[in-house]
Amino acid sequence: MARTPIIVGNWKMHCDHLAAIQLVQQLSYRLDPKDYDTSELVVAPPFTALRSIQTLIQGDDLPLGLGAQNVFWESEGAFTGEVSPAMLAALHVAYVICGHSERRAMFGEDNQDVGRKVRAVLAHNMRPILCVGETLEQREAGQANDVVVRQLNGGLEGVQAAQMGDVVIAYEPVWAIGTGRTALPQDADEMCGIIRGHVGDVYDAAIAGDLRVQYGGSVKPANIASLMDCAHVDGALVGGASLDPDDFATICRWHRL
Ligand code: PGA
Repeated sequence: MARTPIIVGNWKMHCDHLAAIQLVQQLSYRLDPKDYDTSELVVAPPFTALRSIQTLIQGDDLPLGLGAQNVFWESEGAFTGEVSPAMLAALHVAYVICGHSERRAMFGEDNQDVGRKVRAVLAHNMRPILCVGETLEQREAGQANDVVVRQLNGGLEGVQAAQMGDVVIAYEPVWAIGTGRTALPQDADEMCGIIRGHVGDVYDAAIAGDLRVQYGGSVKPANIASLMDCAHVDGALVGGASLDPDDFATICRWHRL
């Protein structure tokens, strides 16, 4: 089965709900049905804009997916400041980014936490985008593969084979995020291939063959085509460039470049 590419805009902590509406409108003017047919296109605004974007997507019948950037694993309770999977599902959120390196580095999320989030997302019929990736120090010390495999094992703990069709993995080398320094396509392809191979070892070859693995880290209009050319890269998780409607639309139209 051919894997449908998936391009996700991770807006991080940018755009209040009004700016978010404007950005989605500007993006939708620039895209046409062929773009949505070629790739699954998703935007992940901050929590405060999810409801507004859900309404816009429904009202204008946009074939755009809605993503969230984080979630807590409990369903409800005394967890001040947290947002539950059920709350996201009620807003028709389709994808939830789990274990982004900024959350791991700044908010202390470890592999066990990330695994809890992935399982909670799946339990609510949403799709996790499990982020993995090594730091520059780890890469230079030759530890990149081990780090990524540990993150995969923690993030996928308890995930059943039958659920793997809903899992997306994003390989995001930390040294490439927000730095303007993109991984070389062959390096991105190599690690995405290692990820696929590991999933094949843990599950089976068919699951690995269907798994969608994104690359993330300074994806721009200038480098998207060469990344998408890679055999193991099935899409992109885009930060900075997803805030510019021209740039993000160009990235979404990678098949025309
Ligand atoms: P960037 O961010 O495209 O700004 O490097 C990617 C990400 O963090 O998902």
